[in-house]
Amino acid sequence: MVYFFLLNFSNLLIKEQGIYHFTMNLLPKDSNGCPFLILAPMEGVGDRCFRKAMASVGGFDEAVREFLRVPSNAHIKSLAKPYEAQETAPIPLAAQLMGSDCDLMAEMAVEIEKKGAPRIDLNCGCPSNTVTGRGAGSSLLKEPQTLHDIARSMVKAVSIPVTLKMRSGYDNTSLFKENLLAAQESGVKYITLHPRTKVEGYGPPANWDLIAEAKTILSIPLVGNGDILSVADAMRMLHHTKCDALMIGRGSVINPFIFHQIKAHFANISYVPQWDNFKRYLDVYQNEMPVDMPEKTKVGKMKQLMGFLFKSSPELLEKRNTVLTTTYQDLNSFLNFSIPILKNR
Ligand SMILES: Cc1cc2nc3c(=O)[nH]c(=O)nc-3n(C[C@H](O)[C@H](O)[C@H](O)COP(=O)(O)O)c2cc1C
Repeated sequence: MVYFFLLNFSNLLIKEQGIYHFTMNLLPKDSNGCPFLILAPMEGVGDRCFRKAMASVGGFDEAVREFLRVPSNAHIKSLAKPYEAQETAPIPLAAQLMGSDCDLMAEMAVEIEKKGAPRIDLNCGCPSNTVTGRGAGSSLLKEPQTLHDIARSMVKAVSIPVTLKMRSGYDNTSLFKENLLAAQESGVKYITLHPRTKVEGYGPPANWDLIAEAKTILSIPLVGNGDILSVADAMRMLHHTKCDALMIGRGSVINPFIFHQIKAHFANISYVPQWDNFKRYLDVYQNEMPVDMPEKTKVGKMKQLMGFLFKSSPELLEKRNTVLTTTYQDLNSFLNFSIPILKNR
């Protein structure tokens, strides 16, 4: 009990500009000591359909929406439109902004706060060249001062917590420490680290040593992210890095029940996914597709999701190929064909 209190207490004591003070614990552990679990932003794969389906399964404590781009010719109100605070209710949904103009990012943060966001995250990781070409996303990692100034302008503009998600560097990790400290100095409440450089893309394994190193550099909390595909991975990351919370992206597309399984591990119980849970997940996913979306696109989306789902079990390779290569053009026929195959997996 005392130990549990001390664990949570350490998250409350924050050092900012040389002064220790208490802050609200934004990353509380659950009653079994399981760290705060966050569903990662994933543009393209992790869209509204996916988040709604994931929310129907549950198990995570917060989700982060994929980035809203804030270009220099921004019309703030219309750019903020796609963000919907209630989308994953009752699980909170954080917004993420990507841009490089301090004033516009501050304006956008204000607009997002008005829409009820629980927190706003600054994207310092997107590797896309169309983005980085304009000095946003992972390009911010080339200039710690710019990263600081943008984060600071957002922190000053809103009363909700601002956080920052970053890679370990742009083409190398030479500015790793400077970027972490610049982010911390800006007043962001915590940092999520995906320990690959922009240049590495998604190629080499995430370098968890850098999460452990960041933990020794920062006094604000740190969320560990990258390559968690199982409960064992989650436990290894916690043990290896001592990070305060976990964010999971692709691991949740492969296994939507991963968050429940991690929570169950801490509760010392087992979580066995039931077919009904899985069926509901698929139902919500398809029902959330826009009505005016062409059938062919709907089938393509469902195939993309199922492609990920099958990946967790290499022994299902044959079934995976059967489902992914079927030529059904409308969603209902596709599901009538593939659901029985999935059910008998
Ligand atoms: C398809 C895809 C889209 C992504 N979109 C975003 C995004 O919008 N914002 C962001 O900060 N990270 C984005 N990421 C990075 C993930 O949030 C995460 O940091 C990365 O995938 C590593 O975690 P994982 O191994 O658990 O997937 C994206 C990743 C993928 C695979």
